[in-house]
Formats: sequence, structure tokens, C-alpha cells
Amino acid sequence: MRHVFLETYGCQMNVADSELIAGVLERAGMALTDRPEDADAIVLNTCAIREHAEQRVLGRLGDFARLKRRRPGLVVGVAGCMAQHLRKRLLDDPSRALDLVVGPDGYRALPELLRRAAGEPVAQVRLDRDETYGDLEPKRGKGVRAWVTVQRGCDKFCTYCVVPYTRGRERSLPLEELVAQVRAATARGYREIVFLGQTVNSYHDGDHDFADLMRATNDVDDLLRIRFTSPHPSDMTTRVIEAMATCDKVCPQVHLPLQSASDAVLKSMNRTYTLEQYRAIVAALRSAIPSLALSTDIIVGFTGETEVDFERTVEYLQEVRYDSAFLFKYSARPDTKAFHWPETVSEDEKGRRLERLIELQLAISAARNDEWLGREVEVLVEGAARRGDRQLYGRSLQYKAVVFPDDGARAGELRRVRVVATTSNTLIAAAPRATAAVPELVRIGSSDSAG
Ligand code: 5AD
Ligand code: SF4
Repeated sequence: MRHVFLETYGCQMNVADSELIAGVLERAGMALTDRPEDADAIVLNTCAIREHAEQRVLGRLGDFARLKRRRPGLVVGVAGCMAQHLRKRLLDDPSRALDLVVGPDGYRALPELLRRAAGEPVAQVRLDRDETYGDLEPKRGKGVRAWVTVQRGCDKFCTYCVVPYTRGRERSLPLEELVAQVRAATARGYREIVFLGQTVNSYHDGDHDFADLMRATNDVDDLLRIRFTSPHPSDMTTRVIEAMATCDKVCPQVHLPLQSASDAVLKSMNRTYTLEQYRAIVAALRSAIPSLALSTDIIVGFTGETEVDFERTVEYLQEVRYDSAFLFKYSARPDTKAFHWPETVSEDEKGRRLERLIELQLAISAARNDEWLGREVEVLVEGAARRGDRQLYGRSLQYKAVVFPDDGARAGELRRVRVVATTSNTLIAAAPRATAAVPELVRIGSSDSAG
């Protein structure tokens, strides 16, 4: 067992888990390969949040089952949330030709599991209340940004969500250990840290809370920026908001999942806040951090969502004006509470509601970006832009993608540039330190992305 092909699906937590897996495998003398054809083992790190995510993986497993027919010694494994969620179905179905099913708390033993799976099918799907992988060094990807998992699992039990069942109970890593991880990543050249957790701001280690973690990290030399995702509105305490406002490295940017703006829907989702409370948190954030960029997650067509409930969400999007939003159709997930409630919104109607929100949010995002026209932004340079000759790409403090003419800046450096054009998801800037006349301000009407 030498070469492993690892493919990642789903959220940023999974990307971080794959870095953890890569570290575990390398220390055991295994190497990652980019080509499935060269691999002794294929591992898919999967997501179970919506049915569509699982369908994609099942399709991909079909491809690998064919490869395995040509190469019978190949080990094919599924890791992560879907492994935990579908453990029985995956193992019992002979057509899938699966050798290994490993849940989010089984990665420490992965090298051993892979070796065993070469002989007989293996499953490791026990959730472990204490596993944090705090002592394991991840093999981080290239770039300026390091992902640091501060907490695993979730105790919120939103009625639509499978995460508490696939990732188990919430547990935080020790603050000292996290600060050491941030120091180590910074020493290796990373300039931005993104703290990850399913409800990252409910972080606690003894008497220390998430505010303390931000303050402790803010003191790390050579680190330029701190972000986090995703906080839960109910844990957005005054202390956390104050720490965000006072720590100069913590970026003015929050992804604050709303899910719905109808109190009835929020209640049946078990979100533990009302729209009025959410509004108050946004007001507190915006008053403490004036240049704040705000984004969110919304689910449309949840069981029981009426036309009137949906209109509340439309109206709130117009009122709050998020910089961006991830918009989802409700997908009923086995194991969750809401799975047992007969659905009340048809797929067609979910589609219609989703389209309506997408159209509205695109216009708002574009208008929000237009507010940056003519203003200077600080960019953390990430490298060459994907499109466009001699253009660099980076992110502003608000996490907006910025493209600007190459002035020789290296990844990890900061530049101040002036925004001269926008799309709904990119700011286009003039050369750094341009003192000549600023080019005419324009808005480009397409939604193409950069970087
Ligand atoms: N159906 C649709 N969207 C969901 N999300 C979580 N569970 C579901 C589901 N069953 C969304 C929520 C969450 C984001 C990560 O995924 O909006 O914030
Ligand atoms: Fe899922 Fe709710 Fe936990 Fe987020 S807070 S992971 S939506 S249960």
C-alpha cells in the first residue's frame, strides 16, 4: 500500500480533514497521487448534507468500481460524513465493490485500515466523543491560507441537518494547542488563518471562549489575517463581537447562516433565535465593525414553509443586503427529525423559490460590490489570476476576490489597490499605488469569477 488517491467533497471542514488524512498517510510512509490510475487505494472524503452530494459520490464510486474490475487489487474506500451516514447501505451493497468505510472519527487508524482492507472489507464508523486529532499535524495545501479546525461535531440539532449524526457531539481543541498550530502554520509561510467549526463561535476550552481564542491568535507575529466559519447566531455573544472589533487581524467579514426569515420556520428548524434576535446581532456587528461584509445560508422549501414565510425571507434579503448568500433547496435527510414530517413544498415550487432568491441576491451582490467602486482595498496576494494577462489575484479584507495588474507582488504580500470595475463576485482594480488618473469607472455585467 504505497499510493493513495484522495478526493474531497463538501465543506471546508472536509478539506481540512483531508489535510489531516494526508498527514496521517504520509507519516505511515504512504504518498498521495493525483492520478487514480496510479493508486493502490482510492479514498473519497464525502459529504452527506444534501441528497445531491451523496448522488455525486455514488456516481463517482461507479467509475472506480469499473477501474477495480480491471485492477482487482485496488482498494476503494469512502470516508467522512456519507460513510458515517450510509455505513450499512454502503457495506451491504455488493455492486459498489467497496473495501473500506471510515467515519470522521476514524482517520487516526487509516493506514492500518487501508492495509486490512486489501484483504477483506473493513468498516470503522464508531463516533468518538473525545477524538479531536489535536496532536496530528495536517499536511496543508499550497497557498497563503491555512485552515485550522478548532472544534468538531455539533450539538445544535437543527431539525433538517444530518451533521450531528455524522460528526457526533461537539468538542473543542485546547486553546494552547490551537495557538501553537497557528504559530507553526505562520512559521511555514501561511499568512491567513481560517478557524473552522460547525458552530465555530461556540468554541470553549475550560473558561476560554471563542473571543479568547481570537485575542490569543491576534498576537502571533507575521500572521496577517484571521477569519472563521461558520458561526451560529445564538453564540454570537457581545464578547465575540467585541473581540472581532478590537483584534486588528480579525477580518471584517462574517458568514452568519440565517436559514429562513420566518419565525415559524426558524422555530420548526430549531434554530433557537427569532428574526428580531438575528436582526439585533447584525445591527451589533455592523455598528462595531463598520466595513463588515456579511454572507449567509438560506434553505427554501423547508417542510411547512408557506408562501407568506417565503416572502419574509425575500423581504429580509432586501432589508439586510448580504454581500453574498448560499441558497439551497431543502433536502430531507434520513436520521433527522424533519425527515419524518411529510414534505409540504413540491420540488417545482422549491425550484421557483430558489430561482427568485438567486435573482434577487445576484442583484444585491452586484450592488454591494459597486459600493467599492473608486475605493482602495487591501489585498492579500494569492498568485496569478486564472484569466487575464499579467493579472494578480487576491482577497480583500472583506473576502472579496480582487484582480489587479501584476506589479511583481508575491503570494503572501499585501497591496493597496483602487477598485475600478466590478462583477457580482469580483472587484477589478487598477495597478497598485497608481497615482495617475484612475481609469473610468465601469460595471461589467457578467458574473464571471476570477482567481
Ligand atoms: N437541506 C438543504 N440544505 C441544508 N443545509 C443543511 N442541511 C440541509 C438540508 N437538509 C444547508 C444549511 C447549512 C449549509 C451548510 O447547508 O443552510 O447552513
Ligand atoms: Fe447542522 Fe444546525 Fe449544527 Fe449547522 S448548527 S451543523 S445546520 S445542526
